Amino acid sequence: MKIIDYGYDCEGVGKENGKVCFVPFALKDEEVDFLKVKESSSFIKGKLTKVVLPSEKRIAPPCKYFGKCGGCALQNVNLEEEKDIKTQIARSHFKKIGYTGKISMFSENEYSYRNKIKLFCGKDGLGLKEGESNNIVRIDKCLIVNERINECISFCQDFVKAKSLQNEIETLLIRSEGDDLLLNFTFNREIEVDFQGLQIMLGAGSGIYKTLLGGQPVHMIGAKALHEKVLGVDISYRINTFKQVNDQVALSLYNKVVKSVKGNEVVNAYSGAGLLTAIIAKQGKKCKGIEIGDSEHEDAEKLKTENGLNKMLNFHGDCKELLPKVISKFTNTIIVDPARKGCDSEVMKAINASNAERVIYISCDIASQVRDLKFLDKYEIASVELYNMFPRTAKSECLVILNKRQAKSCKKEANEL
Ligand SMILES: C[S@@+](CC[C@H](N)C(=O)[O-])C[C@H]1O[C@@H](n2cnc3c(N)ncnc32)[C@H](O)[C@@H]1O
Repeated sequence: MKIIDYGYDCEGVGKENGKVCFVPFALKDEEVDFLKVKESSSFIKGKLTKVVLPSEKRIAPPCKYFGKCGGCALQNVNLEEEKDIKTQIARSHFKKIGYTGKISMFSENEYSYRNKIKLFCGKDGLGLKEGESNNIVRIDKCLIVNERINECISFCQDFVKAKSLQNEIETLLIRSEGDDLLLNFTFNREIEVDFQGLQIMLGAGSGIYKTLLGGQPVHMIGAKALHEKVLGVDISYRINTFKQVNDQVALSLYNKVVKSVKGNEVVNAYSGAGLLTAIIAKQGKKCKGIEIGDSEHEDAEKLKTENGLNKMLNFHGDCKELLPKVISKFTNTIIVDPARKGCDSEVMKAINASNAERVIYISCDIASQVRDLKFLDKYEIASVELYNMFPRTAKSECLVILNKRQAKSCKKEANEL
């Protein structure tokens, strides 16, 4: 089959007997052989078995687990081509809402960028899940996580083997900040484990948590949190505190958001542990964050106190109920940064009805973002920028900045209708 395009997950797309067929790891313009793994009335999902005619863009993937572990989608092209593919995909999403303007892409470190990894445990030790399966591929290292985490993976493989914990551990979460690490082992039954030796290997600034499947993490030994300073704000991350996985790209994204804020009254919806709210409040603006998660809200309150930010206000609850109340006639900028599923329609309707002169929408799922943007007919897109937060994988972060339409252009459009 000839690959004619890319699907939304960067997989190759072709047509067989008129039916759309998705083949992961196949590149545009290639001719490939594939095995049908799923077929419905409207599409086929294929598994690449042979590249018959390779694209000139194809390169050898540097990682031996590429195509097996279910993590990366694009190690078979260079970074420039990856940026092109992701931009093309974004363009086709935005075309659906009539936006055909410029889409730029900011990208930095293509490997060694992740500050976090979640590993699964199987009979051979720790690894990652094969794409769309529960099989675990044991790994020695992962090229997209940073060196410190890779070093830790190696210690933990030895630890699991030495203590024969292969059948006891479900998952291991590793997070890093500089040289410091936080680990959370999730066990499938209550079990006594001595973590002292592992803690010594990790170093004094690191810590270990233990969780019983379905329960809450319990601190076992060493440090309880990781600490960082971002754009003047001191922040502590507990084991489950939300944090962007790519520090360098996140910094550029936050810088751009801060520069794009208009006026002194800001609402930041889906605010997580409050970092962006704090950064904006640190600039002397009144910034109201809204977050549903209990521990995230607690973290945001701690951030406010520890940084002495009296212009930071943290509202705890569902944006669907709180955002319409929190927006006032004085709100100048509304920021939303929801999880993959996007915003509730109530949120988008309240934003559209607001007086805010600027809306900033950050998302890691362009499909739901574009669906939500359709609600904002009182706003027009000023810019669309992709931030390559997850290089080599199929995902990217998208920042859309919108301005309130001038009364004149609203009136003109109403007349045209
Ligand atoms: C992508 S994270 C936001 C990260 C944050 N802006 C930052 O940069 O650190 C999305 C957040 O939305 C929160 N959330 C999800 N659904 C929500 C809802 N209905 N109302 C309020 N917050 C919600 C999640 O708990 C999560 O912390």
